[in-house]
Amino acid sequence: MSFVPSSILVTGGAGFIGSNFIHSFVAANPACRITNLDCLTYAGNLKNLTSIENRPNYSFLKGDIADAQLVAKILAEQQVDAVVHFAAESHVDRSITGPEIFVRTNVLGTQILLEESRKHWQSGVVADFRFLQISTDEVYGSLGDTGFFTEETPLAANSPYSASKAGADLLVRAYHETFGMPTLNTRCSNNYGPYHFPEKLIPLLIHNIINKKTLPVYGDGLNIRDWLHVNDHAAAIEVVLKTAAPGSVYNIGGNNEWKNIDIVNLVCDLLDGRLGREAGENRRLISFVKDRPGHDRRYAIDATRLKNDLGWEPAYTFEQGISETIDWYLANQEWVAEVTSGSYREYYQTQYGGGAA
Ligand code: NAD
Ligand code: DAU
Repeated sequence: MSFVPSSILVTGGAGFIGSNFIHSFVAANPACRITNLDCLTYAGNLKNLTSIENRPNYSFLKGDIADAQLVAKILAEQQVDAVVHFAAESHVDRSITGPEIFVRTNVLGTQILLEESRKHWQSGVVADFRFLQISTDEVYGSLGDTGFFTEETPLAANSPYSASKAGADLLVRAYHETFGMPTLNTRCSNNYGPYHFPEKLIPLLIHNIINKKTLPVYGDGLNIRDWLHVNDHAAAIEVVLKTAAPGSVYNIGGNNEWKNIDIVNLVCDLLDGRLGREAGENRRLISFVKDRPGHDRRYAIDATRLKNDLGWEPAYTFEQGISETIDWYLANQEWVAEVTSGSYREYYQTQYGGGAA
């Protein structure tokens, strides 16, 4: 099965994964129009896209996925034949202190996007259509010392964030089962790479080490995550969009499990050399702090289905990916400084003149 999209609506394309996806997709698919709809929350940063913003097949619209009229207008005017849905509130810690926006964006926003997509698809103005929901391994809950999440693992979300993503995934399933809508659903493990907001573990570590600030390790530091380079995730999304059968669900993972404390030590040691500090100096910044409530112990993804059905495998080794990522942050200190100072938010005003779409 092969689907060649001619006009895709990317939601949340100014965030970490969405912007990396747009970078690769816009270059590899010059005949496909890409419309990026993003309301630019604290996590949305148009500076992530400056190198491609003038491409003829790319355009940006500031707006909310929960604005049904706006979504309907874009789908119709752009003759959209695929929606790639990244937009979300994505940080687990924020969902613990303020869950409401997670339900509003991740559940209600997804439902509105699905409903407008359904009407657009059923109107028959495009020959074929896909709705790709970008989701997370966190919907499966937590693992013990052994085993992997497969696509058949029951959903057992534990944080308000993952519960809101599970709710959205079930709505996507419902639109396929009820209306026969050609939906797709991917569930990926922890991403790392360029343009990652420094509230998340890896960019936070790099930023704090450079600035000799404390490195907070939650609990005993023995929680396990599976790490995948964001470019590998972007490649998997493109493969699923173009070749997966409607209605399917695919796990995406790196087969690359790390205890948090081992990642922290690794990043410390790699930066000792690069910053000209003595061996072990950065590790002295580590501080064990109170655990995240409901902290999932271990995530591990079985991505066999994606490999067997569609031939995708990660291209990056972790050694290469983490090294390149650290070098990217060192070479892009201005980006980090703008994000941490909040000044990146002024860029929209100067570039696009303000005002909603
Ligand atoms: P992010 O927080 O960096 O970016 C989210 C983007 O969505 C931002 O640009 C934000 O402005 C936009 N957005 C938020 N609410 C919106 C709304 N109502 N309307 C329009 N735009 C809105 O997130 P990310 O880390 O890039 O994650 C992207 C997607 O991938 C999410 O759905 C997340 O659940 C999923 N995911 C993330 C990871 C990861 O490791 N980061 C792993 C698996 C899945
Ligand atoms: O698994 C996929 C998920 O990965 C995505 O769905 C989420 O959007 C993404 O944010 C990420 O969630 P995590 O909670 O795993 O990522 P985070 O970077 O917040 O934390 C990674 C691990 O590190 C986790 O076990 C908590 C721990 N941690 C995190 C921070 C920010 C610390 O020990 N200290 C920290 O300061």
